[in-house]
Amino acid sequence: QAVPRPGNESVRGYEASSPERAALQAEITRQSNQIVEIPIIVGGKEIRTGKLAEVRCPHDHSHVLARYHEATPEIVDQAVAAAADAWHTWSELDYRARASLYLRMADLLVGPRRYRMNAATMLGQSKTCHQAEIEAACEFADMLRFNAYFLDQLVRQQPVGEADPGVWNYLEYRALEGFIFAVSPFNFTALGGNLAMAPAIMGNTIVWKPAETQMLSAYYLMELYKEAGLPDGVVNMLPGHGPTIGTRALAQETLAGVHFTGSTATFQHIWKTVGENIANYRSYPRVVGETGGKNFVVAHESADAEALVANLIRGAYEFQGQKCSAASRAYLPASMKDAFLERYLAEADTVTMGDPTDFANFMGAVIDERSFRKISGYLDSAREDPSCTVMLGGNADRSVGWFVEPTLVVTDNPQNRLMTEEIFGPVLTVYFYPDAQYAETLDLCRNTSPYGLTGAIFANDRLATEQAYRALRHAAGNFYINDKPTGAVIGQQPFGGGRASGTNDKTGLGSHLLRWTNIRTVKENF
Ligand code: ALA
Repeated sequence: QAVPRPGNESVRGYEASSPERAALQAEITRQSNQIVEIPIIVGGKEIRTGKLAEVRCPHDHSHVLARYHEATPEIVDQAVAAAADAWHTWSELDYRARASLYLRMADLLVGPRRYRMNAATMLGQSKTCHQAEIEAACEFADMLRFNAYFLDQLVRQQPVGEADPGVWNYLEYRALEGFIFAVSPFNFTALGGNLAMAPAIMGNTIVWKPAETQMLSAYYLMELYKEAGLPDGVVNMLPGHGPTIGTRALAQETLAGVHFTGSTATFQHIWKTVGENIANYRSYPRVVGETGGKNFVVAHESADAEALVANLIRGAYEFQGQKCSAASRAYLPASMKDAFLERYLAEADTVTMGDPTDFANFMGAVIDERSFRKISGYLDSAREDPSCTVMLGGNADRSVGWFVEPTLVVTDNPQNRLMTEEIFGPVLTVYFYPDAQYAETLDLCRNTSPYGLTGAIFANDRLATEQAYRALRHAAGNFYINDKPTGAVIGQQPFGGGRASGTNDKTGLGSHLLRWTNIRTVKENF
């Protein structure tokens, strides 16, 4: 019997006075009033080094939510050994057992553990209720269920040629021989989950280094796995300093793969290190990564201005512009300028920013001081550069939390650094192009950035849409027509980009699992 084709988990509204709102509120209050001590988890055992670092609320940086023990290089060795121990039983399990466990985990996540994961994501990563719900609950449940489905589909793929008489040919989808090093970012709790759990469904075992700024929800993910019955040692969690953990993990001869989401610079460093160590590994590690972006929105003069504005605001400011897919640069026809600005500023007026756990604000704070400083640097640059005009926002306030105003900059220089560099904050920069230069603008858009993650065209003229579709073919791995460039749904819009944005192995597509298996071909003569 096949794993049933999953649907997407329904997003809950948490309306005022609903029981769901009350339950989530109670969990937020509970988590706000405690300081969790987060251990290192290796082979199912908790390790405490006593070298502690803090997790604070981004929107109230005086509020300590948790303290985590930092892993040492020796503990990385222990985690690799624990992963190797667990590998023998986990990789030998019938694939149905792994699929079944994933389905159970998804049900647990969106059942009793939904509030815990959402509250931790709201408090620890400054997500609004909706932003937490769509990913920490729904998207991760989708990832677990679709991966179970994809696994089931994959193992049914067998040699297609007619076998010679007396011969039986078949494929066995083995785990990679060694461990997978998973490195996850702060911006999606679901990614913290999937970077470990996608390789694990193929029978691999994992050494997982979550972002320091995701530690609260990362810890609750480990609790979820344990509660669902994931065997000890399948996922080993190492909180701590990235370079310390990374250097030791990448030096292991049993490194079988790296599953990474984060900055382009870190990914390039990892790839280089893997290259330098290549002769020391037992097998060639699979290197899979999703990195930066400088995502575009182009509008044609035929675009629906209302849809354009609404989608730009959501694409640029939801989760404070910290989605790798966020809209960051826009190319709009000059004829639209006055009407666009009027509509945009009016609509942006309704965007509220503050404590995301109050259920009313549209935006919370950016993740930490480092990010705050980086974004502030771009705001300074916009203010000082004569080619830029700050039309909205442009200020940042660090007194309580790491708050950066939703910002709109208009520039007459399409090569300005605000149009070319990744900011990872709520800053949208617009260049108004002469209407007659639509084709040239598509070329400009395609060639301005080294990235290739997401992008969107807004047009009602079908020929203009097709022109953009062709001209921007390699500029985005996820291309949206009359929609914001964010919000890919598992199983519907497989996600990932090429160029400097990553290896484009598409989260939410069955082929992704091929990266985590080492196929054995068996031929038997009768
Ligand atoms: N998958 C996330 C999105 O599409 C990053 O917004």
